[in-house]
Amino acid sequence: MDVVEAYSKVGKNGWKVLSSIFRRMWDFEFVPSELIAKDSGLPQEKVEAILRGLAGDRIVTVKQLSYLGVAFTFFGLSLYSLRRLVRKGEISMIGSKMGEGKESMVYNAMSEKYGEVIVKFHRVGYPSFKKVKEKRDYGTLHFTVLTVRSARNEFRALRKLAGFVSVPKPYAWEGNAVVMELIDAKELFKIRLSNPRDVLDIILDEVRAMYSKGVIHGDLSQYNILVSEEGVWIIDFPQAIILEEESEEYSSLSLSELRTLADEMLRRDLKNILDYFRRSYGIEKNFEDVLKFVTS
Ligand SMILES: Nc1ncnc2c1ncn2[C@@H]1O[C@H](COP(=O)(O)OP(=O)(O)OP(=O)(O)O)[C@@H](O)[C@H]1O
Ligand SMILES: [Mg+2]
Repeated sequence: MDVVEAYSKVGKNGWKVLSSIFRRMWDFEFVPSELIAKDSGLPQEKVEAILRGLAGDRIVTVKQLSYLGVAFTFFGLSLYSLRRLVRKGEISMIGSKMGEGKESMVYNAMSEKYGEVIVKFHRVGYPSFKKVKEKRDYGTLHFTVLTVRSARNEFRALRKLAGFVSVPKPYAWEGNAVVMELIDAKELFKIRLSNPRDVLDIILDEVRAMYSKGVIHGDLSQYNILVSEEGVWIIDFPQAIILEEESEEYSSLSLSELRTLADEMLRRDLKNILDYFRRSYGIEKNFEDVLKFVTS
C-alpha cells in the first residue's frame, strides 16, 4: 500500500491512536494499549481492533509483552508525520516518490505556503560513526525515536546554514519528516562537468562557509552534492555536527571529544571530495592546504 492510499484509509479514531503512540513513544519502546485507550478516550476493545487493522496495513507493529504494546513501523511514522504536516498547513498533500534509499524516502509535494517542495522521511538514526555508536546508550528507545532526532538534526543544520551556504531552504519538520526546497539539479556523480576545477572551488568555498557557521557535514560526497547550470547545492545533513548547539545526536560526547570527532569528519569529507575530483578529473590538490583554507 502506498502512502496516499494508507493516508485516506486511516479513520478519525485511527489518527487518535497514532497520535497517542507518537506522544508516548519517547517513554516506551512498545506503548501499552491501555495508555492509548486512556489518551484517546476510546474503549480498550475498540483500541485493540484499530491496532489490529493498523498492524495489518503495516502502520504499526503489535507485541504481546506483559501488556499489549505497540510501536510505529517506518512507514507508519512517516504517515503520521505527513499527517502533522498536512494538518499544520505546511503541505497540501504528498506527490510522487522521487527516490528511496537505505536511509530515507524522498517525495515531492505541493505546499500552499512554499510551492513545490520535497519531503524527506528519515529512516535511520545517526550518527553513522562507529565510535559514537559504541558510546551511545540507546536503552530501550525504539528506533523511531532516533529517526525523529535525525530529522530534527537535519532541519537544524539546514536552518543554521540557509542564507549562508548553498543548501535547500528548510521549511518544516515534523516527526521523521523534513520539508525543504526542491532543487532542480542532479547529483554530482551523475554528470560529466565541463569546468571541474571551478566546481571543486565552489564546493570548497561552501565547505568553508559551513565550517565558519560551526557545521561539519559528515557525509559529504559526490552523492550529496547537487549541480546544475545554476550552481551547486549541498544536501543530506542528518549526521551533521553543529558545534555551537547542544545536540542530542552527539550528547554522549564531551566538548573536546566532539571537537575531535568534528575534526575527523571534516577531514573525511574533504578527502572524499578531493579523491572524487582526482579520480574523475585528474585534479590534484594538496590536502593540508585545502584543510587550512577551509578552516581559516
Ligand atoms: N532538496 C532536494 N531537492 C531535490 N532533490 C533532492 C533534495 N533532497 C534530496 N533529493 C534527492 O533525494 C536523494 C536522497 O536524499 P538525501 O541524500 O538527502 O538522503 P539519503 O539519506 O542519502 O538517502 P539515500 O539512503 O537514498 O541515499 C538525493 O540524492 C537527491 O537525489
Ligand atoms: Mg544522500
